[in-house]
Amino acid sequence: MSIVLQGLEKAFGPSRVLQGVTETFDQARISVLLGPSGCGKTTTLRCIAGLERPSGGRIQIDGRTVYQERPAVWVAPERRNVSMMFQSYAIWPHMTVFDNVGLPLRAAGVDRRRIRQAVTATLELVGLDAYAARNATQLSGGQQQRVALARCIVSESPVILMDEPLSNLDARLRVAMRSEIRDLQKRLGRTILFVTHDQEEAMSLADTLYLYRNGSVVQKGAPKDVYDHPASGYAAEFLGRANLIGEFDWRSAGDASEVVLPGGAVLRTGLRERPAEGARLCIRPEKWRIVDADGPDVLRGRIEQASFVGDRTEYRVATDAGSMLAVQLDGELRQPGEQIGLAVRPGDIGIVRE
Ligand SMILES: Nc1ncnc2c1ncn2[C@@H]1O[C@H](COP(=O)(O)OP(=O)(O)OP(=O)(O)O)[C@@H](O)[C@H]1O
Ligand SMILES: [Mg+2]
Repeated sequence: MSIVLQGLEKAFGPSRVLQGVTETFDQARISVLLGPSGCGKTTTLRCIAGLERPSGGRIQIDGRTVYQERPAVWVAPERRNVSMMFQSYAIWPHMTVFDNVGLPLRAAGVDRRRIRQAVTATLELVGLDAYAARNATQLSGGQQQRVALARCIVSESPVILMDEPLSNLDARLRVAMRSEIRDLQKRLGRTILFVTHDQEEAMSLADTLYLYRNGSVVQKGAPKDVYDHPASGYAAEFLGRANLIGEFDWRSAGDASEVVLPGGAVLRTGLRERPAEGARLCIRPEKWRIVDADGPDVLRGRIEQASFVGDRTEYRVATDAGSMLAVQLDGELRQPGEQIGLAVRPGDIGIVRE
């Protein structure tokens, strides 16, 4: 059951919240929509679910057109066969946890014995089996979110839309639920559209990642591809962290090339072609290696800040080419004030537009 959006538009009054989204979300895969608050992620899901009427374009689910601007097509939400988990839970306060989770199955006319089995198994999955009889209002925020998650995955809809389903869980549970969602997806082969603004969650879950900006997709791909080859400064900074250097000279050097940074440091790069006007160099913080020796391919600097955070140390380094962030997984702990060099492999210097 793939979902196809063609030129999808949505305006609220004068503001165009979706600006012509054309994407195919593949069958039996996890597609993750990632982007900052207000960029149109929830609106996209609501349009697909039929809870929002788009202003233009077309939506197809499993080859069937469920919305089209002209000639007008509109399929009611309950006939779209999608299950949506809302950012705001939307669980029923007057029902028990068990009844809340069983709701979609009751609505679909599933028999009671199967409902009992499915709900029990799903509550176990989300760690709420002990709460089945409890009233849904007598739960913490994280527990309510798990009820909503259970209700979403218990249904047999082939398409599942999830809007920030893990945002209120504690860190440990969130990581556990991520792998449950992945397993579930493998076992049941559902098509999942998952919205988050947590980049780590996005990368760990996505088969394909769609990076949103102001109501359109600016980059998509496998998480590692997007991370390793961000097309813009926006993508580089939204997905991970990046050192972006706008001021540099480029020169060809045989098969390879070099960049000259402010202050005169020369770094070899794998860039074959002269970068376009306005392009910036992009170096991920974990690609910098701290070295003592001076020499070619080294950018000298002074450590301004060192933060040890357990599995890594993060250094803020002042250089003539600007302030750099360098993340080191091992090596001695260095102190602010130390003069050091930053080295990077030629292939780890990327280039981004704007
Ligand atoms: N019913 C509405 N009326 C007017 N404006 C709306 C309505 N719903 C959403 N918007 C606006 O549309 C834009 C996109 O909203 P949307 O909920 O899709 O963002 P989002 O990407 O899900 O953000 P978040 O990460 O904060 O949930 C926002 O600027 C929002 O204020
Ligand atoms: Mg939202």
